[in-house]
Amino acid sequence: MSKHSSSAVSRVTVQTLRAMAARGERIVMTTAYDATFARMLEEGGADVLLVGDSLGNVVQGLDTTLPVTLDEMIYHARAVSRGARRAHLVGDMPFMSYQVSAERALENAGRFVAQGNVHAVKLEGGVEMAETIRRIVAVGIPVMGHVGLTPQSVHAMGGFKVQGRDEDDAERVFADAKAVAEAGAYAIVLEGTPAPLAARIRKQLPIPTIGIGAGPDCDGQVLVCYDLLGLSAERVPKFVKCYESFYARGVAAMRGYAAEVKNGSFPDAAHSFGLSAAAPGVASASLAPAAESGGGVEAKSGETH
Ligand code: KIV
Repeated sequence: MSKHSSSAVSRVTVQTLRAMAARGERIVMTTAYDATFARMLEEGGADVLLVGDSLGNVVQGLDTTLPVTLDEMIYHARAVSRGARRAHLVGDMPFMSYQVSAERALENAGRFVAQGNVHAVKLEGGVEMAETIRRIVAVGIPVMGHVGLTPQSVHAMGGFKVQGRDEDDAERVFADAKAVAEAGAYAIVLEGTPAPLAARIRKQLPIPTIGIGAGPDCDGQVLVCYDLLGLSAERVPKFVKCYESFYARGVAAMRGYAAEVKNGSFPDAAHSFGLSAAAPGVASASLAPAAESGGGVEAKSGETH
């Protein structure tokens, strides 16, 4: 095999996403922070996996995404890239990794792609980020924009608030989205914007729009995977739909395990190893049934699975 050949699975690319939007096929995007989740979410139909700085909230237990570092993002991105074979992978540029200067942004975007194995980077901001987006795109790194409610500006917004509700603010959000598209972004996240405003942006912009709390009229939707899976212990925002309740199911599963450890019913013979015949004199009454019943793995193989 040449180093350029790949397996049968074809990767979702920037071009795939453009084509999907052009034919009206909705883009399915969610976040991922590790290899196991990446595999599971991709198998479930994710076209795009965002290694989001929301990992600060759901993985690190922070109140905001502001303390998340580029090194941490790269660590998680590498893990995600090992689990995903088909999805388009986007790395979320963390706070202060792109705001200081276009040069710094370019350097950090390059690090993200080279070391984190992502196919594109996402950054928050509109008009003020246009030049930075232009510079990154110019060296061949696709950029996904993010306007409306931009969590890295939580303090400037006075909280996590819907943006663009009144006419003037709607014009500001629209101008931001337009500037991002004109700077060369290949897609844009619209977060926390009224549905009619998102619909207008989708209609007037030539790039795919991905909504989160932005109503149904976008080219795709994104949700934080912990939210859609019901993995958060806390109340989720209005725009989130939980398709499972994994937090409650995890607690129930753990209770089952804890109870069986406490009462001694786990591990039973089926989950224990027997002795090999070559270990005379150390037969244990409690392990012997596993070998006899075939429930254990032969010790001589040295394998545990
Ligand atoms: O970090 C993140 O998860 C995001 C999505 C909410 C779009 O930016």
